Amino acid sequence: MTPQIELAGVNKYYGVFHALKNIDLSIAKGTFVALVGPSGCGKSTLLRSLAGLESISDGSLKIAGDLMNGVPPRKRDVAMVFQSYALYPHMTVEENLTYSLRMRGVAKAEAKKAAEEVAATTGLSHLLKRYPRELSGGQRQRVAMSRAIIRHPKAFLFDEPLSNLDAALRVHMRKEIRALHDRLGATSVYVTHDQIEAMTMADHVVVMKDGVIEQQGRPLDLYDKPANKFVAGFIGSPAMNFIPAIADEEGKSLTLELGVIRQPIAIDHQIQPGSKITVGIRPEHIGITNQGQGNFDVPVAVVESTGSSTFITAATTPELTIVETGRGTVQPGQTIGVAVAPAQVHLFDEASGVRI
Ligand SMILES: Nc1ncnc2c1ncn2[C@@H]1O[C@H](COP(=O)(O)OP(=O)(O)O)[C@@H](O)[C@H]1O
Ligand SMILES: [Mg+2]
Repeated sequence: MTPQIELAGVNKYYGVFHALKNIDLSIAKGTFVALVGPSGCGKSTLLRSLAGLESISDGSLKIAGDLMNGVPPRKRDVAMVFQSYALYPHMTVEENLTYSLRMRGVAKAEAKKAAEEVAATTGLSHLLKRYPRELSGGQRQRVAMSRAIIRHPKAFLFDEPLSNLDAALRVHMRKEIRALHDRLGATSVYVTHDQIEAMTMADHVVVMKDGVIEQQGRPLDLYDKPANKFVAGFIGSPAMNFIPAIADEEGKSLTLELGVIRQPIAIDHQIQPGSKITVGIRPEHIGITNQGQGNFDVPVAVVESTGSSTFITAATTPELTIVETGRGTVQPGQTIGVAVAPAQVHLFDEASGVRI
């Protein structure tokens, strides 16, 4: 089937600055895609290029099979939802919803009916006569989305739409947006710097850094098999531990270099003998036990409990973070045994950061 959105070899320069580097991305109809990465990595530039608000320097950009290079935004039939909502303050909710239809020559009664239908879907029916200033943040966000929905666009483009909302409302709106996407059978591209938002909302996550797609795939595939050290450190919270190590003479095990501690551990596949490795271990994959009973012992520096889980910082070099579910039983100053299963040890080439 023709992808709903397809980018091939897309580059974008702002003057000499190379903002998007050889982007290939294919999005099937009905998919919810999250673009995630640190601030300045090019997420908004990519989204704005889809909307036609930025022109791409080379490559091809297709929407529903049609080449869009150079096509102006209003002819692309995509709808952008911004963090700032961009509502018209002097118009009621209903007027905000009907404005774009009226501009396109839709009759007043028909536009009103469309607004009422969409408002019923997004839970705004009782607010149609209000002005934006009379709405809460979540309600304004719903108006912004409704205004996009009313146009039946080929794709919804979201640029960090929840950043202005408090934590509890953000979690709620996350589910609401995803449910709406499913109900409409929409195709959505959602920009966020929040990896939890990306992981929980999307079918397909695209991780970017410095204008490059570092990896893309299903959320849990990125968590289980990060392609490189950057993705490994970006996906997952608290972040993965990275420890320098050297492969043994046969390449069948390796030695962790935890400051003065030299600790051999088992691995589950053969690697280049003697090679320099960065070992990645997620905090939730380190088991704790009594001193002398794990793979090795570490002194405990800090213990922080949230009630549901406990974060332990081990006083090693580099420091290790360990997550235990529940309140935990460990005290600062104690020495504990830690255990790591070979299947949960990630190996990266020290120089390139690429998974091995
Ligand atoms: N109009 C512009 N002119 C020059 N540089 C820009 C422009 N817009 C964005 N950039 C630069 O491009 C990079 C990517 O920006 P952006 O796409 O906004 O990042 P993100 O949304 O991931 O935070 C940044 O380094 C930013 O400074
Ligand atoms: Mg941005």
